[in-house]
Amino acid sequence: MTSLKVAKVGHKQKKELVCLCNQVPREAIERAIINGADTPIKIFDATMAGVGACGGSCRVKLYQLLDSYLESKKFPDRLTMNYKPKSKPKK
Ligand code: FES
Repeated sequence: MTSLKVAKVGHKQKKELVCLCNQVPREAIERAIINGADTPIKIFDATMAGVGACGGSCRVKLYQLLDSYLESKKFPDRLTMNYKPKSKPKK
């Protein structure tokens, strides 16, 4: 019973659309990171998240997922727009 509850919460989080411009769910971004996308540019290339018409307003969430995974091999429960990225690409 406990695992079912965890699965429901996790399922809802995974379906969360992170990039609205390109309709990219959190699940696709996490999968790309787990499969080796270890920079923001690799995430952009693998998922199309962060490169939509708005100019990348979702990138702060991508950075949050990436930074968390690189630090702890885990993803955060919640994503915030107030995050200060560590993995922001250099220009
Ligand atoms: S919401 Fe992701 S690029 Fe616009």
